[in-house]
Amino acid sequence: MTTEWERVDDYIAAHLLGGDPALDAALAANAAGGLPAIDVSAPQGKMLHLLARMCGARRILEVGTLGGYSTIWLARALPEDGRLVTLELEPHHAEVARSNIARAGLAARVDVRVGPAIESLEAMIAAREMSFDLVFIDADKPSNTAYLKAALALTRPGSTIIVDNVVREGGILEANSGDERIEGTRALFEAVAAEPRLSATAVQTVGAKKWDGFLLAVVRA
Ligand code: SAH
Ligand code: DHB
Ligand code: MG
Repeated sequence: MTTEWERVDDYIAAHLLGGDPALDAALAANAAGGLPAIDVSAPQGKMLHLLARMCGARRILEVGTLGGYSTIWLARALPEDGRLVTLELEPHHAEVARSNIARAGLAARVDVRVGPAIESLEAMIAAREMSFDLVFIDADKPSNTAYLKAALALTRPGSTIIVDNVVREGGILEANSGDERIEGTRALFEAVAAEPRLSATAVQTVGAKKWDGFLLAVVRA
């Protein structure tokens, strides 16, 4: 059944997003490859793209690639010499993503790194990789606080940090829910609240991906 929220997302996409063969092909390849349909929605992807443009992002870090759907939206915001590094645990997801990203013409700008994100992030910090202008965190939710800490080490004052799925149909209101994804997200809110280096909010969303939300933060000067 198509919900009203989905129909509104379709209306928004039809008016403001237009046809997008590369993204349609990515979603088809994800489904064919058996990947779960937990990518951001099309209007959300465009929002990430616009946020990256608003920050003038030249270097973007993504944690949680899946099939590269959000990666493509974000990488399209980069200038020709920009760079997006995306971290993915599952080799099969990374393989599907690389093919989707190549089909979108973005292979030269995107680096898909396979392995537990926390290890990739620690290696990046140790290697003193250049700072990122925007970080999008969208992987395993229990690690959200660890990803936030790593993001702070890999950004500069003025950088933007965005976290997906921070509302979970209101699930974040449940203390001791027993759902480690909710507990991880509640821990993230505590960590952001206690972090003087961040100015943050969270915005609830409804749509094809149901009731959820994004946490948005800027690293303070
Ligand atoms: N950002 C994507 C969706 C990501 S879904 C989009 O919107 O299109 C979450 C992804 O995080 C999955 O592909 C999952 O395999 C990956 N993931 C889970 N645990 C991880 C870990 N420890 N390190 C890196 N990636 C992980
Ligand atoms: C889940 C993860 C996501 O990144 C998402 O957008 C939706 C659901 C999950 O783990 O359930
Ligand atoms: Mg998500």
